Amino acid sequence: MASFLISQPALEQNARVLAQVAQKSGAHMLLALKAFSTTSCFSTLRPFAAGCCASGLYEARLAAQHMGGHVAVYSPAYRPAELEELLGFAHHIDFNSIPQWQRYREQCLRHPRVQSGELLLGLRVNPCFSTGHTPLYDPCVPGSRLGIPPEQLVGADLTGISGLHFHTLCEQGAQELVDTFRAFEKNFGTLLASPQIRYLNMGGGHWITKPNYDREALISLVREVRECYGVEVYLEPGEAWCVHTGVLRARVLDVFESLGYRHAILDVSASAHMPDVLEMPYRPDVYAVRPAEEQAGGTPAVQLPGESYAPAGEAGELPYTYRLGAPTCLAGDVIGDFSFAAPLQPDDEIVLDDMTHYTIVKTTHFNGVPHPALQILQPDGSISTVCRLDYADFERRLG
Ligand SMILES: Cc1ncc(COP(=O)(O)O)c(C=O)c1O
Repeated sequence: MASFLISQPALEQNARVLAQVAQKSGAHMLLALKAFSTTSCFSTLRPFAAGCCASGLYEARLAAQHMGGHVAVYSPAYRPAELEELLGFAHHIDFNSIPQWQRYREQCLRHPRVQSGELLLGLRVNPCFSTGHTPLYDPCVPGSRLGIPPEQLVGADLTGISGLHFHTLCEQGAQELVDTFRAFEKNFGTLLASPQIRYLNMGGGHWITKPNYDREALISLVREVRECYGVEVYLEPGEAWCVHTGVLRARVLDVFESLGYRHAILDVSASAHMPDVLEMPYRPDVYAVRPAEEQAGGTPAVQLPGESYAPAGEAGELPYTYRLGAPTCLAGDVIGDFSFAAPLQPDDEIVLDDMTHYTIVKTTHFNGVPHPALQILQPDGSISTVCRLDYADFERRLG
């Protein structure tokens, strides 16, 4: 059966890097649950994370129940009952628009946790400064609904607001953050410097655990912001906690030729299990699993004893090219065209690399495709299966 296989030691390695950046810079490093919410792994991350950033009530509950520490919540809009419950346990609640803030201001300001300072309230602002190249992931595109543009703060009643939040990056370096902060500073610097503002949340999208990320530049920016503006700085990466920590293991179900293409149908779906492959679009590194004695040379994020991994090439690069497709009816449910050194056969195993973040949190039961199991490779080499969804889960979800 297909499975997401996450390496506990690899997760811990990323977590140590993030904790070191937090320690050197004085930033509070949160885990963005939207990227990764597998609670069975939280005991690994807990010693290194200051807490979590949640996109609403459900993630906030998950954070409080399973991670502990700081719970920062931001949602484009809150339902009344959701906001009421969040007031009882969140530490930051950030609002996305002036009307949302106006709607809930009195309720918030009356709350004992706000009055005691246990819960701080903030606004997500839009620096209107794009550094990304994919509009789907760019909160600063013209017409964006994410964050308050500078001109809307003029004359707004900000009594009770003590935090500012921006999130604009996606898989980006420290220089893009520095450039974004400078743009933010131009429009929001006066407010940031005012004594009422006690925290700045600089969102996620920081590729901090990638080898070429300039961590020193991030550390000096955070220090500068803390010293110049006297605020607490929060970072809330998601992907950086989990990049290169897990794979999706799939099997070949069928191989055939049609209309000039050789197809291999796998037991996983891009649409149902790794939608970024279609949305971003993202082309994963792919490996064919081979016996260890072949020493096939590939290095996916998770490797098992007794196996080696033959890297797939671009279409036409190696002798056997296949279009890797899903067992669904969606014509475009295709992972891509990949070439292999040896022909693929039914039952061959394939590894799709880097499949921890924004995969498990986004899966569906589209077409009734069985959901991959969720497994964790422990430091002693054992594998624990932490979730196996079956027909009953498929049936129940659909009502
Ligand atoms: C508000 C906010 N914070 C944090 C993140 C995490 O971003 P990443 O996983 O790219 O670090 C996101 C991602 O969309 C986000 O929207």
